[in-house]
Amino acid sequence: MLLRYAILLCCLLASAASLAKKFEGLALTPPMGWNSWNTFACDINENLIKEIADTMVKNGMQTAGYEYINIDDCWHGERDAQGNIQVDKTRFPSGMKALANYVHSKGLKLGLYSDAGWQTCGGHPGSRGYEFQDAKQYASWGIDYLKYDWCNTEGLKAEGAYLTMREAIHQAGRPMVFSLCEWGDNKPWEWAQDIGHLWRTTGDIYPCFDCEYNHGTWSSWGVLKILDMQKGLRKYAGPGHWNDPDMMEVGNGMNQAEDRSHFAMWAMLAAPLIAGNDLRSMSAETLAILNNQEVITVDQDPLGIQGFIYADNFQDTSLQIWFKPLQKGDWAMAILNRGDKASPFTFDWKNEKVIDDLSQRVAEFSQQVYQIKNLWSGQELADSQTMLQQQIDAHDTLILRLSPKR
Ligand code: GLA
Repeated sequence: MLLRYAILLCCLLASAASLAKKFEGLALTPPMGWNSWNTFACDINENLIKEIADTMVKNGMQTAGYEYINIDDCWHGERDAQGNIQVDKTRFPSGMKALANYVHSKGLKLGLYSDAGWQTCGGHPGSRGYEFQDAKQYASWGIDYLKYDWCNTEGLKAEGAYLTMREAIHQAGRPMVFSLCEWGDNKPWEWAQDIGHLWRTTGDIYPCFDCEYNHGTWSSWGVLKILDMQKGLRKYAGPGHWNDPDMMEVGNGMNQAEDRSHFAMWAMLAAPLIAGNDLRSMSAETLAILNNQEVITVDQDPLGIQGFIYADNFQDTSLQIWFKPLQKGDWAMAILNRGDKASPFTFDWKNEKVIDDLSQRVAEFSQQVYQIKNLWSGQELADSQTMLQQQIDAHDTLILRLSPKR
């Protein structure tokens, strides 16, 4: 009898020990980097990736915090006779390990893409049935980040499929950021906190301010559409586990005001900042947006609290006002002009009070004076004892940092 209990206990302990966890500490602030998909789709190769890495070092993005170079769909060749996934040798003739070494030599990290189903969305071999073998292969190449998609997954349950890959990564033994990409279909925010480091909340982004782009059986979405789909999700995000409203389209065809809004709002959402434009040929204006250190600091605030809407159609204008609690009693405030015309904005601080139930933070401007900084211009504005008066251009966003005056 005793022996039986001893054996049972032993088995229980062994199975508990083998239940691996995700790698902790990898994304204490939202991941920052670049991904190939939004601009290049399947038109990728090793020289492009190297040039992107070189550019990121030279243009100050690395210093600003961008770290991951992520290769999306279409890097794959076929599986070999043993089932090992190989690279497409015409696109990546030197192999993935050599490319990872190159990216690492620049102080950057390399990410790859796979899919929980039998094929990726682009029709390349998926990881279904090969999870442990694939994770081991990625680890042996020196991969640091895995985006894991959800095409061709008939019959699979999302939570189980992503758990399997988490186990596989853990067994492979190399820390990798694990990015879930099932488009929010199965409410990953409810179950993925211990599985991955970020999860897509929506379908794909499209480089427009407020459109829906219909592909027939599915749509991709403009910036405002995606922003509005984040409703109710802020409580699920925090250090190590982020809502992912998709990679950025800054520099991919919207005007500068729209790009500013996109970037500022992604920062207010504590979203991963994964650039999706051609870094080699972007304008100085685009780079200035992507490299705005103060806006990045809002995104990367160590508290990791997602922002929230304070006022919609503020004073019957097209303005939406957001607040985000930051460390040391600071706040970020964003005034987004959703409308097609410039709008005057007047904010009489002493009549306003911000209460955030989630973080239990309050900003009572009649009690506490704040210094106000315009994060686009870098200028200190008059403090909160003076009414704020600005004009916000069509589709533009004014983003401010408020710091308590002592
Ligand atoms: C899906 C994803 C995209 C991209 C493509 C690649 O649509 O949501 O982000 O990875 O697949 O095929």
